[in-house]
Amino acid sequence: MLAIATKMWYNSVTSNGIAGGESAFWKGSNAMANRMILNETSYFGAGVITEIVNEANKRGFKKILVVTDPDLLEFGVTVKVTALLDAAGIDYEVFSNVKANPTVFCVKAGLEAFRDSEADSIIAVGGGSAMDTAKAIGIISSNPEFSDVVSLEGVADTKNPSVPIIAVPTTAGTAAEVTINYVITDEKNKRKFVCVDPHDIPVVAVVDSDMMTTMPKGLTASTGMDALTHAIEGYTTLAAWELTDTLHLKAIEIIGRSLRAAVANDPKGREDMALGQYVAGMGFSNVGLGVVHGMAHPLGAFYDTPHGIANAVLLPYVMEYNAEFTGDKFRHIAEAMGVDTSGMDEAAYRKAAVDAVRQLSKDVGIPEKLHEIGVKEEDLPALAESAFADVCTGGNPRPCTVESILEIYKKAF
Ligand SMILES: NC(=O)c1ccc[n+]([C@@H]2O[C@H](COP(=O)([O-])OP(=O)(O)OC[C@H]3O[C@@H](n4cnc5c(N)ncnc54)[C@H](O)[C@@H]3O)[C@@H](O)[C@H]2O)c1
Ligand SMILES: [Fe+2]
Repeated sequence: MLAIATKMWYNSVTSNGIAGGESAFWKGSNAMANRMILNETSYFGAGVITEIVNEANKRGFKKILVVTDPDLLEFGVTVKVTALLDAAGIDYEVFSNVKANPTVFCVKAGLEAFRDSEADSIIAVGGGSAMDTAKAIGIISSNPEFSDVVSLEGVADTKNPSVPIIAVPTTAGTAAEVTINYVITDEKNKRKFVCVDPHDIPVVAVVDSDMMTTMPKGLTASTGMDALTHAIEGYTTLAAWELTDTLHLKAIEIIGRSLRAAVANDPKGREDMALGQYVAGMGFSNVGLGVVHGMAHPLGAFYDTPHGIANAVLLPYVMEYNAEFTGDKFRHIAEAMGVDTSGMDEAAYRKAAVDAVRQLSKDVGIPEKLHEIGVKEEDLPALAESAFADVCTGGNPRPCTVESILEIYKKAF
């Protein structure tokens, strides 16, 4: 009988100090199974938050903790969901102390709120930060042996599924509503760590573009570029396979054609971006990412750089570094971005893919260099060490060393 091993995205550093290598992605025995984990149910389109009440009732939720952040309360975004709960007479409490790039401290505070509220379920309303905090709260509530939070890093051996989460994204970027990952900042050690755990996936995702219309231009642009980074890194990551390739290429196409319109707050652009980022999440959650994310995470930990901006600045530089290790995939990326590649040789279509990404980034107002977003030159060696150790780096198509990562940081500086 064929032994089945589960394909995991998990970094390993080999004895010669190189991050990556296909063998690092297998967990268990010696054969491979491509695996897909998705939400039980998901809803798409402007106005679909009304489905939350049906889902909460159908699932027998008695009391809900709504996990969100203070800005979303202030901008009247969270209230769109709580008003539905009020009208339906569903009992809930709100925890709104989520900060961007959520910390261990923030998760512990949320955990306490969850216990005090005696809720049996969570609705996360927010961007990646609120959804990731909700996942950590949900996982630790069901697996209290991980109450220190930091021991959840990587692939944690949790035994029980998270308390049920309905995830309602308010940014079009992270796709945390459909991923099996969450990212927490260890403020004491100045590092962001990624947790990969199928037990954390929200049971329901409610992807409603009306929840995203209050995003300012800069946030729409940076979170959208995060989604494009997911699609491109997911398409070229070592564990990619045909099904996820299909999802990632479609995501690149949708994001490539709709991000500019979303930044202009066009409703169709918003709706398309909401879908595009989710499609990217369906893919990358199941195969992993690459060194753009590996290098973006330390920027979040060192300078609290918004995640999307860090990725957006780094993406073209990493694409140049990876180009020779991607076969003809950059031709398909260029085409999905709307470039006619007929007659182009390998060098030409690779350059065309990078140029198309640079142009989109420029059009939506993303800076080109790391020094423009507050990165300090003297920190680059420490950032490179941290990026090398990141869970995402092992999935990069071209092997990385601390030195090669430092070179990319320098080019992008
Ligand atoms: N779980 C995953 O798979 C995954 C994937 C990628 C990134 N992440 C993580 O997600 C976090 C980033 O999430 P994000 O980029 O969605 O941003 P975020 O959740 O950190 O939010 C950033 C800011 O935008 C505001 N905001 C959000 N929605 C808004 C709206 N509709 N209108 C007005 N303001 C709004 C928030 O209040 C906050 O101040 C990072 O910590 C990153 O590492 C997680
Ligand atoms: Fe991301």
